[in-house]
Amino acid sequence: MYVNVAVLTETRAHERRVALVPSVVQKLVKLGARLHMQPGAGAAIHLDDAAFENVAFIADRTALVKDADVVLAVQPPALEVVNAMKEGAILVSFIYAHNEPALVKRLLDKKITCFAMERVPRITRAQSMDALSSQSALAGYYAVQLGSTHLARVVPKITSAAGSIGPAHVLVMGLGVAGLEAIATAHRLGAVVEGYDVRPETREQALSLGATFVDTGIDARGKGGYARELSAEEKTRVADVLTKHIESADLIITTAAIPGKASPKLISHAQVAGMKAGSVIVDLSAEGGGNCEDTRPGETTRIGNVTIVAPLNVPSLLGEDASELYAKNQYNLLALIMKNNVIEIDWSDEVLAKTVLTHAGENKAEASDAAAKPVAAAKKPPAKAEPVTPA
Ligand code: NAI
Repeated sequence: MYVNVAVLTETRAHERRVALVPSVVQKLVKLGARLHMQPGAGAAIHLDDAAFENVAFIADRTALVKDADVVLAVQPPALEVVNAMKEGAILVSFIYAHNEPALVKRLLDKKITCFAMERVPRITRAQSMDALSSQSALAGYYAVQLGSTHLARVVPKITSAAGSIGPAHVLVMGLGVAGLEAIATAHRLGAVVEGYDVRPETREQALSLGATFVDTGIDARGKGGYARELSAEEKTRVADVLTKHIESADLIITTAAIPGKASPKLISHAQVAGMKAGSVIVDLSAEGGGNCEDTRPGETTRIGNVTIVAPLNVPSLLGEDASELYAKNQYNLLALIMKNNVIEIDWSDEVLAKTVLTHAGENKAEASDAAAKPVAAAKKPPAKAEPVTPA
């Protein structure tokens, strides 16, 4: 007995990652996997096919997946791939279901059991499977590198016979995984670093990494360790406190996000206009529309004397390390469902129950959202509408 595992070549624009790397091959084989992938799947990160021992290569992606028990990918696969999969097979990849209604419908029609990597719960036991964290940490590091290359000044303090220059002032806004890694990287480079977030527990985390914390007095802790959206009044209070920190920064890195919502706007047009000449914003939230009102997702723009860098899919820019960590995240998840050369899914396992998106024709995300809603809520008057974040 063995489990037939197929690994797709990523086809979305600018995606360089691959869901399998050579260091994970033997581990999967030990779990009982028989591995297949498309030739050239690792080419974008300089991994030749020859580096993948014990993997069989099949060029056509529909032929690759047709007998697969498990299909692995980074990005949501094409509909054609799901069409070709066996009914009841397993798919493991990022999906972001709200962006992919046609794909989700196809997964339901084909009764695919889909584990969506972005749904891995943020609990201690699942940390080794948490691809959002592994990829965000890389993005946070890279944001500092990217920002420094756009600055016309040094980051650390440098002393020469002609005198001393630096250090640069770096402000990191949004202190989740990416923001904390950005603080750590900027601090290591010798910058003077400030951090800001609406979850008060991030103060200690920022201080422990060598930053000071900008306290706005707002506590916007939401569900599951995430932030909630701010009210209009809170946004005004925050802006009042933040303006002088924004104006004194050489480099700002923004990472703020609220699950299921557009990125909150933390820097206004007026605040950009007040920034120092030559300063740089790296907006890691460009995918969700950006944290700055002047951000153009996917572009690097000059607004007056300020450069705004808003890259998309930053982990892919570090595709080699991003693939290594992602493949390990997927392996750790697969280790929960592959035992003794067969697939055995224990639905009482919280990690599997929360990560699954579709199973046996049922949309588990919708089912769990409905179950999470308190029954009494229906009797309450409708909640006052939350103010909409400006687009
Ligand atoms: P994220 O990408 O959802 O958001 C980034 C940051 O933006 C968050 O810190 C959030 O508080 C902040 N933010 C949102 N609105 C903001 C605003 N208006 N102004 C300033 N900041 C704002 O965050 P990520 O990295 O996905 O982490 C989410 C949570 O999950 C965090 O609490 C993190 O500590 C937790 N976590 C827990 C893990 C575990 O195993 N226990 C593993 C990884 C993350």
